[in-house]
Amino acid sequence: MQRKVGILGAGQLGRMLALAGYPLDLHFRFIDPTPSAPAGQLSEQIVASFEDDQALVRFAAGLDVVSFEFENVPVAAVRKLAKLLPVHPNAEALETAQDRVNEKSLCLKLGIATPAFAAVESEQQLKSALGVIGTPSILKTRRLGYDGKGQAILKDPQDAASAWQSVGGAPSVLESFVHFDRELSLIAARSESGEIAFYPLVENHHRHGILRKSIAPAPRVSPALQKNAEETSRRILEELKYVGVLAIEFFEKDGKLLFNEMAPRVHNTGHWTIEGAETSQFENHLRAVTGMPIGSTKLRGFSCMLNFIGALPDTTQLLKIPGCHVHLYGKEPRRGRKIGHCTLLADSHQELMERVALAEKLVQDDG
Ligand SMILES: Nc1ncnc2c1ncn2[C@@H]1O[C@H](COP(=O)(O)OP(=O)(O)O)[C@@H](O)[C@H]1O
Ligand SMILES: [Mg+2]
Repeated sequence: MQRKVGILGAGQLGRMLALAGYPLDLHFRFIDPTPSAPAGQLSEQIVASFEDDQALVRFAAGLDVVSFEFENVPVAAVRKLAKLLPVHPNAEALETAQDRVNEKSLCLKLGIATPAFAAVESEQQLKSALGVIGTPSILKTRRLGYDGKGQAILKDPQDAASAWQSVGGAPSVLESFVHFDRELSLIAARSESGEIAFYPLVENHHRHGILRKSIAPAPRVSPALQKNAEETSRRILEELKYVGVLAIEFFEKDGKLLFNEMAPRVHNTGHWTIEGAETSQFENHLRAVTGMPIGSTKLRGFSCMLNFIGALPDTTQLLKIPGCHVHLYGKEPRRGRKIGHCTLLADSHQELMERVALAEKLVQDDG
């Protein structure tokens, strides 16, 4: 039986969802205001704002289920669609994950460790929050931030005015700056029947707030650390009655995990699963939202993903590296923009690192 999945957002995540869905005879309709968005180049796309009610009705017609690939879709649009047909993940999960204070408050409620934080709504509140959180600290807009945008680091309480200006005076959260040992993330999928599968923790490398590289599995992860990450994820998934793929970003500090943020969708730190796991995060998200069983998250080897940011590498040279797979998103190169990635696969961590060294000579991003 052919099924049609509607996806809010038509960026590269949507494109990779579509690519994973076709073998299962899933068909897609995307809605996104940008014409010929990456997913719209492969599938049907309605070019419209998420706030256009008439477009939402046209979008919903004939669909079996709706999901999203972008966490900044208006919750109101998801609630409207949820009156017409099933939407996974649900509006509450979206509402929690799109606001940094909401997601950290959920952590407090569930006993999950986070950096110290305080909500701030004015420069005056920022100054008082600095009295509690101290410096160094980091001010982030509660909503709409990505790739390190909408953030300011405060080295000294005197940075308050400039930090407040640099987040545009938007409602924000002040967090203590964590001198972490490394960044890790966990991708999980939960089905409608409550079945949960986890991928192994991934080690992530960011520069200027943008993800550059993910290594899977993360080296030097004890079973206790993996279990801790899985328990954190399980508590959130169950609390939110979550259906689909959820990603959680952590800081590792002295062998302990601190929750940084979560994304209610497939995630850049899970792209390696396309080649590196028996079932990709994209397929598992689709399986979850369409009521199919979750697939095995077992690894097929050692993987590393490198993002192409702002400029395309010489893909012909890249493809000569054994175990290298290239994904291009059909986007115009622009400074700081993710336009593709490659995943390298190998039979050992050492062999992987040799291949990554070759690839990193070719994948030169723009800063
Ligand atoms: N409290 C913090 N302490 C130290 N570094 C941080 C902190 N918060 C964020 N960062 C750094 O900035 C990056 C981007 O911040 P993040 O909160 O993940 O926002 P987003 O990914 O939505 O832009 C993180 O991956 C991390 O490298
Ligand atoms: Mg992040």
